[in-house]
Amino acid sequence: MTKSFPDGFRWGVSTSSYQIEGGADDDGRGDSIWDTYCATPGRVANGDNGRVACDHYHLWAEDLDLIKGLGARHYRFSVMWPRVLPEGTGKVNETGIDFYSRLVDGMLERDIDPWLCLYHWDLPQALQDRGGWTNRDIVDWFGDYTELLVTRLGDRIKSWVTFNEPNVVAWVGHEEGRHAPGITDPRAAMRVTHHLNLCHARATRIIKHHYPDAPVGFVLPMHKGYTLPHRREQDAHLIELFEAKWNGAFLDPVYYGRYPELILDRMEPHIRPGDLEAIRTDVDFQGLNQYFPSYIQAAEGKAWPFQHVEPPKYFRRTEMGWAIDGDCFYRTMKILQENYGNPPVFVTENGGAFTDVPGHNGHVDDQDRIAYYTEYLDALLRAVSEGANVQGYMPWSLLDNFEWAYGYDKRFGLVHVDYETLKRTPKASYEFMRNVITQNALP
Ligand code: FCB
Repeated sequence: MTKSFPDGFRWGVSTSSYQIEGGADDDGRGDSIWDTYCATPGRVANGDNGRVACDHYHLWAEDLDLIKGLGARHYRFSVMWPRVLPEGTGKVNETGIDFYSRLVDGMLERDIDPWLCLYHWDLPQALQDRGGWTNRDIVDWFGDYTELLVTRLGDRIKSWVTFNEPNVVAWVGHEEGRHAPGITDPRAAMRVTHHLNLCHARATRIIKHHYPDAPVGFVLPMHKGYTLPHRREQDAHLIELFEAKWNGAFLDPVYYGRYPELILDRMEPHIRPGDLEAIRTDVDFQGLNQYFPSYIQAAEGKAWPFQHVEPPKYFRRTEMGWAIDGDCFYRTMKILQENYGNPPVFVTENGGAFTDVPGHNGHVDDQDRIAYYTEYLDALLRAVSEGANVQGYMPWSLLDNFEWAYGYDKRFGLVHVDYETLKRTPKASYEFMRNVITQNALP
């Protein structure tokens, strides 16, 4: 039995600049914090980096053809801040602007709506040298960067995403240190959280000033907390705090102009009078990323009274070791429906890394990825049937790419990339997704 998506459901695909562009030495691009992080021994698997990546900087037209071939009408890409402002502020690199301008025109020629994401983690290193996200001046820096892109590209951008996963920027980049800039300072992470929220609001106002009707939102990987079955009694009280940290710290100030009560004492030192009023902005859509359920357990002597633990054995896993759980995806959509006024939701990332072994002709028959998408899309339909306002879906990702600290070991693409030759070969999951998109239904 086929299961149909609502009429007008919007299908797209997502990528990000540092993960695919390469072109690091071309045309005056500045360094980002990921260039620095990759160059630091021991940070990234195999010492990999994004200097060539998928060479999308040169092969972008072929990649847009692949999006078109998929039948996707929406493309979330990100701009690499140091490609357009090598020093983070000040002098504009016109060649960098030209690149994105051609890219956007290429989308429009192919009838693909550009969804421009301002920040997918590649902060100019020059700004990190001035304190990066911990320096409150970043609100002005980010504002100027936004103004530049809005004035140069805004006439052609259909939707704006201010941030990809600001919670990962704060917690993974500044508390756990597993991402650039590799800082492990819980207090700094709280300050960064607040600055990211202020930046989101500043950018939203700038975009709206120029284009009042342009949809603006931010992308959050929402986490649903779970306890291990045998520890339910000891740990259940921690779920609310866990979700306040991962979801509420970014959703509540924007939707309700306040931080969750449970984390207020940690946030207060960073809040100035008027900040919360400034952060509360209308949300045109909520970008939602979802991959896995988070299991937590009480912990002592850590920044928070809990730690992440391995989910129960009965879950199947992706090659990242991430538990596969469509039901968790369903629950995150329900949280938005029930606790945040049921905003229009676009799933801006979802997908899995699997051990893709190309056959003799280079074709990858990735049935495990197809099974993953089937389970998650089924969960999406269940949420929609219960009234969740989910309006679109973008799988992660178009291409195999640079998977941050995992380097090139982990492949998430619908299209296989041979990193020696840079040849792109659509996988079986690409055909599967094309079918879903064309039929607007799950087989
Ligand atoms: C998300 C990131 C994206 C990609 C996927 C697998 O957290 O936004 O860039 O790495 O995970």
